[in-house]
Amino acid sequence: MNTATAPQPTGIRYAARVERAVKVYGSTANARTAETAVTALDDVSVGFPAGRFTAIMGPSGSGKSTLMHCAAGLDTLTSGSAYIGGTDLGSLDDRRLTLLRRDRIGFVFQAFNLVPTLTVAENITLPMDLAGRRRDRAQQEWTDALIDVVGLRDRLHHRPAELSGGQQQRVAVARAFAGRPDVVFADEPTGNLDSRSGDEVLGLLGRTVRQMDRTVVMVTHDPVAAAHADEVVFLADGRLVDRMRAPTADKVLDRMKAFEATGAARSGVASYDAYGAETYDASGSEASVRDASVRDASGAYGDTEGAAS
Ligand SMILES: Nc1ncnc2c1ncn2[C@@H]1O[C@H](COP(=O)(O)OP(=O)(O)OP(=O)(O)O)[C@@H](O)[C@H]1O
Ligand SMILES: [Mg+2]
Repeated sequence: MNTATAPQPTGIRYAARVERAVKVYGSTANARTAETAVTALDDVSVGFPAGRFTAIMGPSGSGKSTLMHCAAGLDTLTSGSAYIGGTDLGSLDDRRLTLLRRDRIGFVFQAFNLVPTLTVAENITLPMDLAGRRRDRAQQEWTDALIDVVGLRDRLHHRPAELSGGQQQRVAVARAFAGRPDVVFADEPTGNLDSRSGDEVLGLLGRTVRQMDRTVVMVTHDPVAAAHADEVVFLADGRLVDRMRAPTADKVLDRMKAFEATGAARSGVASYDAYGAETYDASGSEASVRDASVRDASGAYGDTEGAAS
């Protein structure tokens, strides 16, 4: 069932979300390729609340990067919808999608992707300079505050090669936030860092969300990294299987082990979406909230357990 209009999720403003997202690599329409077709996302509905740090976790191959790429408009869904704020990405042509990614989304990847010939300061403002954005006073102040949050003031005129890996990734984080995007997506941002530098970058992402009211969605398979987030959503076999508020590394690790032990994607836990009835409250005491009921995109409850086979 496809809904033309997205349901209004309960009282939460989502910076990004996907609705009944399906992504199949390789065509199922073609008999020859059907056998090798991979369903990387299998009917996933999940929202990433504005002003929050959300981690996407799951085993290798569970669809984390695919979800992030489709939510960020770097790839298209086979069916379902992806929204940045109120904008349906499927309604945009290539040019508008490119502009939306440039103006409203920031990216941090495992490889830092800095320009070696530019200084730290130039790297940070590069996307805005390329976009020809005027550096008004508000923008200057924002960049200035950002430089302090990432702790790079004394490195502004260095080039990337003169920085440690952790410092380079902090530049990449500052660059991602420089244009004040609606949401920053990070795919394994600490994958190339030692644990101490990784911790610094994760702490920085958390501070940017909390002190500067930003939104971050981070893909990781590291429970320690996920513990820096406000909430963790778990994927298994292309399905959203659980979510956890106020995560700790131990709790995340336990949850991952439980998935492996029970094959959660094939059990009754499978069909779950993050438009659960709960809204954010300050308590955070209930670390893991799992809505046992199964909801479809129209907000109705139904039993799709059979479909989860
Ligand atoms: N371009 C592609 N063509 C075909 N299959 C793909 C493609 N990209 C991903 N897949 C498949 O889709 C599934 C999900 O991949 P994805 O990269 O999203 O996983 P992931 O959770 O990010 O894994 P990892 O932790 O290893 O990065 C996997 O089975 C993968 O082999
Ligand atoms: Mg990945």
